[in-house]
Amino acid sequence: MQSFKRYTVTSALPYANGPVHIGHLAGVYIPADIYVRYLRSTGANVLFIGGSDEHGVPITIRAKKEGVTPQQIVDKYHNLIKDSFQQLGISFDIYSRTSSPTHYETSSAYFKALYDKNCFIEESSEQYFDPVAQQFLADRYIMGTCPKCGNENAYGDQCEKCGSTLSPSELIQPRSTLSGEKPILKTTKHWYLPLDAYEPFLKEWILKEHKQDWKTNVYGQCKSWLDAGLQPRAVTRDLDWGVPVPVPNADGKVLYVWFDAPIGYISATKDYFKSEVKPIHKHHVWEDYWKKEDTKLVHFIGKDNIVFHCIIFPAMLKAEGSYILPANIPANEFMNLEGDKISTSRNWAVWLHEYLEEFPNQQDVLRYVLCANAPETKDNDFTWRDFQARNNNELVAILGNFINRALVLTQKYFEGKVPKLGTVEPIDEATLSMLKEIPDSIAQSIESYKFREALGHLMDMARLGNKYLADTEPWKIFKDQPERVGTILHISLQIAANLRIVVEPFLPFSAEKLAEMLQLSTVTWKNAGSSNLLKEGQGLGPVHLLFEKIEDSTIEAQIKKLEDTKKANELANAQAKELKQNVTFDEFSKMDIRIATITAAEKVAKTKKLLKLTLDTGVDIRTVVSGIAEFFEPEKIVGQQVCLLANLAPREIKGIMSQGMILMAENADGSLAFMQPNKQVMNGSTVS
Ligand code: MF3
Ligand code: ZN
Repeated sequence: MQSFKRYTVTSALPYANGPVHIGHLAGVYIPADIYVRYLRSTGANVLFIGGSDEHGVPITIRAKKEGVTPQQIVDKYHNLIKDSFQQLGISFDIYSRTSSPTHYETSSAYFKALYDKNCFIEESSEQYFDPVAQQFLADRYIMGTCPKCGNENAYGDQCEKCGSTLSPSELIQPRSTLSGEKPILKTTKHWYLPLDAYEPFLKEWILKEHKQDWKTNVYGQCKSWLDAGLQPRAVTRDLDWGVPVPVPNADGKVLYVWFDAPIGYISATKDYFKSEVKPIHKHHVWEDYWKKEDTKLVHFIGKDNIVFHCIIFPAMLKAEGSYILPANIPANEFMNLEGDKISTSRNWAVWLHEYLEEFPNQQDVLRYVLCANAPETKDNDFTWRDFQARNNNELVAILGNFINRALVLTQKYFEGKVPKLGTVEPIDEATLSMLKEIPDSIAQSIESYKFREALGHLMDMARLGNKYLADTEPWKIFKDQPERVGTILHISLQIAANLRIVVEPFLPFSAEKLAEMLQLSTVTWKNAGSSNLLKEGQGLGPVHLLFEKIEDSTIEAQIKKLEDTKKANELANAQAKELKQNVTFDEFSKMDIRIATITAAEKVAKTKKLLKLTLDTGVDIRTVVSGIAEFFEPEKIVGQQVCLLANLAPREIKGIMSQGMILMAENADGSLAFMQPNKQVMNGSTVS
């Protein structure tokens, strides 16, 4: 086992083209933050890098859609994302952006260095061009049918339905997303990184050296890429948004976003060292975190980023030659939401900035649920019911309950001061020895990127505390054995003090509250496992609840919000029904359609859908029973004019004789609207 002097931990730079959602959090930022907070607590020298990925076609497309500039888009979302991460307690040392001047210099110089070393192949080829928009169609500017699964809406770089990585030339029936036109082929020159040349190195490094320590999902994806054989990959694009290609004869060309973005980790490190650094990073320079062999580089990413971080970026690092390679790349799978794939374009997500507003001071609940359900080995599902259950049954009932009981009992029996440890009985000893083991289990799980397992061990510590109180029942024996109760609470408080330490990486806000309640702020991971964290006689702070029950109504409101989204999507995608067979004019003119006014309306007793309407038809006053009660309140429709099929044969409905039928328009979601004349007309007017 290699021993490391410092850690560089990166988390994927999110595209600044939309807010961050729970999928991003569960996949990348929460595990990364737990890892970093844990390492810091052990005293390790860690640098935690984040930032916005501000280039790439999705950003220009979003700008076009919203009618603003790409710069306005990235400014808006960079700030939104940065703030919401901060509020969730994601503890970046720097949150930078790839539009920073440092990044332009760094990524430019990086490209130039590889160019000067002849690492690129320069090649002209025919690529799709939109003759109307006068633009080459890279990546997401082009759509067509996926050759692998037949999805008609696959992008030039990827099919989101089957997950295949594509190139525009593979698309069947390509079309421009700018104009909808069929693109033409036009010659253009680009620079390619010959990934095939790095195949031997990558095979040795990944398939041999990292067979054991990389996650199986990551290793498996790498292996299938390597087995299939690597191809040269274009690292430039014909676009006007990005870092200009810094070599002669490259007008109108920029670096491919996946070339510049990972260099963003390096630029962010430089930016950090240009600002005021934290004490632990003093006497270091940025190169220490990127070029020293005793630095451990770890990339936290989602599964769609695996090939870029495991194959392309390492090839780029290798080509340059002076950088270290990542030691590990613990990619997660995807988090779904209520059974459906999270999607920004379909607004199918729980957005972090909205959660923070709707659940104030409940950051740790989200952190807990997303860690407990993290898609570490397979895709997983977030549901609001599970969110509620985990809060109520785990955070409140196990962790919060233990802390609360230990502190309240100490207040009640010992005036809020840590009581004396008296004679230690076997149950005390057994409990303390179990307590001692748990922090190491948590640490081991964290160091092998098993954050769910780590969280399970943490909860075991709270369970241990609850079981100890349940077995010893101090509330029953205080009268006769106050000293024994002192010992029990002394031990319980030591468990609480240990929780204050181990909870911190996972639930930093609760750790802070615990620190105040226990008056215990300076402890670190090195102290974990100790049964002497609190001293006899030490005063404790005021007691507050760590977690609060989440009510059904809160969860129902969230579910309703998602149902509304689903309905809105269905409506947006709905297609009109096919037309019926032709009828003759004679057939049509048999129908006597009239304008009538509703003069009275009431619900038909014991039915959900029916209203009894009284209509003034200009000819008579009549009754019509109509199935519209779900959409209209009786008192609100009196006075409205409607179309009535007046000569429909009368029939009895629920004991009421219905004379005719009013005509309604049915929306795609099944909701109904009246057909009305566009100005008031005489009752009895004919419709033809
Ligand atoms: N923006 C990319 C995404 O959201 C991730 C970029 S990671 C980096 O998928 F390394 F390239 F920065
Ligand atoms: Zn496909």
